[in-house]
Amino acid sequence: MTAVEVEQLRKEYGQVAAVDDLSFTIEEGEVFALLGPNGAGKTTTVEILEGHRRRTTGRVRVLGQDPQTGGREFRERIGIVLQEAGFDEDFSVRELVRLHRGLYPRSLGVDEVIDQVGLSDKRDARIKTLSGGQRRRLDLALGLVGAPELLFLDEPTTGFDPSARRRAWDLVEGLRTLGTTVVLTTHYMDEAEHLADRVAIVVAGRLVALGTPAELAAGQQDAVVSFRLPAQVAVSDLPALDGVPVADGLAWELTTARPTAVLHTLTGWALEKGLEMPALSVRRPSLEDVYLRLVGGPTGDDESAATPASAGDSVRSGR
Ligand SMILES: Nc1ncnc2c1ncn2[C@@H]1O[C@H](COP(=O)(O)OP(=O)(O)O)[C@@H](O)[C@H]1O
Ligand SMILES: [Mg+2]
Repeated sequence: MTAVEVEQLRKEYGQVAAVDDLSFTIEEGEVFALLGPNGAGKTTTVEILEGHRRRTTGRVRVLGQDPQTGGREFRERIGIVLQEAGFDEDFSVRELVRLHRGLYPRSLGVDEVIDQVGLSDKRDARIKTLSGGQRRRLDLALGLVGAPELLFLDEPTTGFDPSARRRAWDLVEGLRTLGTTVVLTTHYMDEAEHLADRVAIVVAGRLVALGTPAELAAGQQDAVVSFRLPAQVAVSDLPALDGVPVADGLAWELTTARPTAVLHTLTGWALEKGLEMPALSVRRPSLEDVYLRLVGGPTGDDESAATPASAGDSVRSGR
């Protein structure tokens, strides 16, 4: 059965279209990711699906209902983890989770959910004493406690340390085995690649790609040749290649439809000079490569993330 249907969805804020002609469907039991840079329209889309914002035009069905007119019965079937939620800071973790559980007819155990998100040792702590990552985990607990059929996660792991992130991923994978449909937004490529059955890449309110992570990466025919420069060699010393090498941290990467020719030229030149090309490799493009190409390179408007891509970019501008 189809859990979510979106047809030609459009949302305008004044003159600006934050969501522009978006169409997709999500099957029951699927983990579906909306991936895109800040300002792409992910939160707007998700909040329209939750019934928290009104669309300008288009057709939306969530669990067979229009979220705009769905009442209590609709809200009881969905779970929501907002990008930024505000609570009464004086509640303890346990009190707040219990309060939320009371809103749902079907629900999980309070302590069980607190354990699942890894907050057992903070059970009785006041919310105002939690760190940013702990708050996000509490958000997750609140989304889960009503045993939703459909769970919305808006940037669920932003601000998590790597181990908290892994735990959150395990949690989402656990939901998949329970048959819960999950709609997730993220600007982390690895998160989408790891968790999602299908990924919709959204840029400036428009869908630019949709498919499984493998399909999106395979859709690119090009290969990426990567290497470091031998000592005393500048990139301008290299022979002419079918493609332009671009700095990525210490490595140089060249995207080409003719990797065989590029390797032949490069290795032939290196052998002739008696040089070894450090860290030479050829790979198929990853989802990250596809994403960066679609959003227009590593200089996206994503100020929040110190990603390898933006780090590489600053190295490049330093040369
Ligand atoms: N309530 C609002 N009023 C006016 N503009 C908004 C509002 N909410 C979001 N926007 C604008 O809509 C665009 C999409 O925002 P958003 O959906 O939050 O993107 P994302 O979640 O992908 O970062 C942005 O340009 C943002 O500034
Ligand atoms: Mg957002």
